[in-house]
Amino acid sequence: MHERQRLEDVEYSHRMLRWYDRNARVMPWRMLPTDRAAGAQPDPYRVWLSEVMLQQTTVAAVRDYFLRFTTLWPTVTALAAADDADVMGEWAGLGYYARARNLLKCAREIVTLHAGVFPSDYDILIKLPGIGPYTAAAVSAIAFDQPETVVDGNVERVIARLFDIHTPLPSAKPELTAVAARLTPTTRAGDYAQAVMDLGATICTPKSPACGICPLLDACLARAAGTQADLPRKAAKPAKPTRHGIAYLVRRTDGAWLLERRPDKGLLGGMLGWPGSDWQETPIEAPPLSAEWNDPGVEVRHTFTHFHLRLLLRTAIVGTQTDPDKGFFVPLDAFRLSDLPTVMRKAYDLAAHNMAMD
Ligand code: ADE
Repeated sequence: MHERQRLEDVEYSHRMLRWYDRNARVMPWRMLPTDRAAGAQPDPYRVWLSEVMLQQTTVAAVRDYFLRFTTLWPTVTALAAADDADVMGEWAGLGYYARARNLLKCAREIVTLHAGVFPSDYDILIKLPGIGPYTAAAVSAIAFDQPETVVDGNVERVIARLFDIHTPLPSAKPELTAVAARLTPTTRAGDYAQAVMDLGATICTPKSPACGICPLLDACLARAAGTQADLPRKAAKPAKPTRHGIAYLVRRTDGAWLLERRPDKGLLGGMLGWPGSDWQETPIEAPPLSAEWNDPGVEVRHTFTHFHLRLLLRTAIVGTQTDPDKGFFVPLDAFRLSDLPTVMRKAYDLAAHNMAMD
């Protein structure tokens, strides 16, 4: 049985690699299999940066962020020397701002501890800030062709279906990882990791997988059992609570806006935002200055990883001599709305109309 299983594992990965050779998606950080075969090596900095960004959002959404980051900071040394606020500003909109702070910490450690050279070993990579099992395996495999096993949501889905594994996630993770590891080839591990991810993203999709054109159609146990649409199974998630808060949007008559930088620790840590109350079940007014407050009668809705947020808004227009108790006024030309995290931008979009009519 073991010998037969081994032969099948090799056959699975060969088929995925053959499929990838013809169907690899073009991405700005990706080295295509033809270039790799010709001996070119991916830039580990670009692989690392893209993988950290891709944990936040889709390939399509990451593209512009990636191009902007690599234009501003083309190397890990350049990123390490960047101003924290500039990096946080460029990250705005991607979410999970602790990742941006760890990105900078990691770049700086690579410069100070590793002479600006990315380590290739999983065991060394995983000790760096913000690098967990996924990123360590992805950088080691994709940038250095080390036979590490990369497991993201796409890989979990492909493996659960190929082997018709019904254990629900997240408890299925070790089992799926072990099977994925068995399939990981000793050569072309980087292409293989990306082949499984691309297969999951384009053919073995969550809904209505395109089994008819799948290179593993005849091998897929879920397809044989007709269970592909139900896999991977997922344990029911606890319902997210809703928290409530109040945000204060203050514009000075010269056009400056009152902003505050949020503490480094905690949600939206290190990001710019409107001053506001704590977010809790019943918010308590916490105006950053005394003013005649307007209530635009609208509410911002935003969902974070662990809770839904509803933000009431208060707006005011104040004179140029006003001294705030909290935050600082920022002239209009010294800040971009795109520097703000999404929830703060939503607040602006809802409030600005109301303020324009004041
Ligand atoms: N998702 C995350 N990383 C990826 C990669 N390198 N290729 C395709 N999809 C991905």
